[in-house]
Amino acid sequence: MAQHSPPQPALNWAIVGQGAIGLLAASRLQLAGWPVQLWLRQPAVLNIHFEQQALHFANATAPLAAVLIPVKSYAVPAAVQALLPALAPDAQLVLSHNGMAATEHILPLLSPAQGLWFLTTTHGALKQGATVRHTGQGQSVLAPLNPAAKNQLLAVQQAMDIALGPVTLTDNILPFLWHKLAINAVINPLTALNNCSNGELAKGQYQPQINQILKEVCQVAAAAGYPLQYAQMLEKVQQVIQSTAANFSSMQQDILHRRRTEIEAITGYIVEQAARYDIAVPLNTHLMQQVLQLQHLAQR
Ligand code: PAF
Repeated sequence: MAQHSPPQPALNWAIVGQGAIGLLAASRLQLAGWPVQLWLRQPAVLNIHFEQQALHFANATAPLAAVLIPVKSYAVPAAVQALLPALAPDAQLVLSHNGMAATEHILPLLSPAQGLWFLTTTHGALKQGATVRHTGQGQSVLAPLNPAAKNQLLAVQQAMDIALGPVTLTDNILPFLWHKLAINAVINPLTALNNCSNGELAKGQYQPQINQILKEVCQVAAAAGYPLQYAQMLEKVQQVIQSTAANFSSMQQDILHRRRTEIEAITGYIVEQAARYDIAVPLNTHLMQQVLQLQHLAQR
């Protein structure tokens, strides 16, 4: 399709890891004719199935012009350190994870011509064996975080529009991260603790907890200077639950596969901010403790 043609010249994209969102982005780019490879810890050719198609991804080689880094928040510093020697002098790096962006440790690692971005997305994806499914239509917000990123606006935006679009470009990602944080603070711990799909949370039994989590998050967000409207957020959460009903959240999957969860970056961040502003968040505190306990048991 004409609107999917890469701009001239197209950036060569490398996607870090083989997580569900990264493989969704890689598949959509490849199917639209964009050059895309994977940056894996153990270099290998990856074969996957996506929407009835067999796709093959070669291993990315230096110099890397543009890199999407959809790894967990706690894994970002190590992933960027590993990438540094392979980056082109004007490489563009796009971080994408749940929780708040802690880019103050990443920006100083880059040279002045290397661009840093953050992308937050509500798309849902699920990887089961070698099959990747797009389980929830979402949208993304993309922000350039330094001057070098602003020089490459069009090329990066066009690619991300195909990979995880529709994309909205913003100069201030923080209100969007609070918005996404509220969604994750509801869906992720509840699905992990109840070992259920996102869609299960539409059931009546979960509504009191959903309401309470959101009320607490809205209080903290307002105190932090990023007010969220409770009624609008509740509607948005219900919408994400519906649109990703068949999906299992990343936290449910992390517990299932005995991996570290993002609870500290999501609910932990809310609890930390609540303490800073002297706000009681009993349910979020309780959920964080329960997920940490479950994670500990799962990893034993
Ligand atoms: O973490 C996740 O799983 C996703 O951010 C979301 C939007 C909750 C969909 O599953």
